[in-house]
Amino acid sequence: MSIALVLLAAGKGTRMESDRPKVLHKIGGAPLLHHAMLSASALEPERTVVVTGHGTDLVEAAAKAFDADATTVLQAEQLGTAHAVAQAKDALDGFDGDVIVLYGDTPFISTETLDDMIKARADHDVVVLGFDAADPGRYGRLIMDDTALSKIVEYKDASPEERAVTLCNSGVVCAKRTVLFDLIDAVDNNNASGEYYLTDIVEIANTRGLKATAVTCDEAETLGINSRAELAAAEAAFQRTTRAAMMKSGVQMQAPDTVFFSYDTVIGRDAEIEPNVVFAPGVTVESNARIRAFSHLEGAHVSQGATVGPFARLRPGAELAENVHIGNFVEIKNATVDEGAKVNHLTYIGDAEIGARSNIGAGTITCNYDGVMKHKTTIGQDVFIGSNTMLVAPVTVGDEAMTATSTTVTKNVPHGAMAIGRVDQTNKNGMARKLFSMLRAKKAKQAKD
Ligand code: UD1
Ligand code: CA
Repeated sequence: MSIALVLLAAGKGTRMESDRPKVLHKIGGAPLLHHAMLSASALEPERTVVVTGHGTDLVEAAAKAFDADATTVLQAEQLGTAHAVAQAKDALDGFDGDVIVLYGDTPFISTETLDDMIKARADHDVVVLGFDAADPGRYGRLIMDDTALSKIVEYKDASPEERAVTLCNSGVVCAKRTVLFDLIDAVDNNNASGEYYLTDIVEIANTRGLKATAVTCDEAETLGINSRAELAAAEAAFQRTTRAAMMKSGVQMQAPDTVFFSYDTVIGRDAEIEPNVVFAPGVTVESNARIRAFSHLEGAHVSQGATVGPFARLRPGAELAENVHIGNFVEIKNATVDEGAKVNHLTYIGDAEIGARSNIGAGTITCNYDGVMKHKTTIGQDVFIGSNTMLVAPVTVGDEAMTATSTTVTKNVPHGAMAIGRVDQTNKNGMARKLFSMLRAKKAKQAKD
């Protein structure tokens, strides 16, 4: 059966107190909308339609960033969840299959749960995802008759008996496209909110002799985000789950609670992550690599046996080959560091290539930016870059070459050559002693005055 997705993302998210559309707030470095799309992506949806409203341009860009084929439709006025889904009707024209409706602000619905819903669809016309709520609060209530779902009643419209029900509506719905839109056409807004409720389709389906049922999942999956506090709680839940999954797959962590992952972090077996490390999006760390304390990595690839940190920063495009050593207070951006090379102390390497086994001395800087354009530094294999070398790009240092400490390299250094460019030293005998006594006398005089 082919699947189409409709993601509701028109809501303003008033309680976020934010200029940013709610579904673009992030968990694990990715917008809420991406999380919702990600769990459904395993179903290989034939079409994906995102219903936008507030901040439509930004939401559209985010939807297309995740899936270039996703379409967006504008719901100019938020008249309710049924009205929102109705906006997707034209975009799904001609689609022959099941539609799954998801909320863009509900990031944790699992692929397994969606699979359960698709299975239940085999012998039901409408399948709703429910959960047993610890605190049912203002959720819509699922009114069951044995395994049949009779209706969904919104909290505002519910009787005291209905409010006592703890089986709640997550908002996720699955039905055949033609059935879904036929039912939605029949939804009105005669209710306590004056909104077109998607939930009404269940009762309408029953009056038409169609079969509805509910599938349940863990409450944690249905967690929706409405405020900054809920966003932080969801982030914490995401981190807990990710840490557990990392450890299960063989990642070593001394203090997992202090390590922060992104939605796409990949770490190999027997890699070691020391305390207080942050993985921004786009990082892969291979097995047996070691990320030492207080390092920040983003868009970087760390190969087997490499060591990074403590206090290192890998920025997008950092590509470290096997057994590379990156030490403390080193920043690497858009640069390849080949096998066994070492950059151990207080260094900036940007827009560069460093050959195998080369050693970059403390305080080295690739001067890659002239204020207008970025330029490249190429360092060959088995090179020794002396401490405090300034490499003024574009510049190339050949294999087995060397730069003397404090050299400012402005010209290419040939294979095997040594570049030295610094002011000659002169020693003035006795001068230090004279200077010290002069200064001490001055200080003593000031103290008296
Ligand atoms: C909805 C359900 C409720 C369920 C709850 C779960 C209805 C009528 N009620 O209630 O049964 O327990 O979710 O969280 O469906 N949206 C639009 N356009 C609209 C209205 C909503 O895109 O016109 C989007 C919102 O951005 C949000 C989602 O749909 O992502 C749900 O809307 P919301 O207003 O939060 O519904 P609830 O009242 O919480
Ligand atoms: Ca809600």
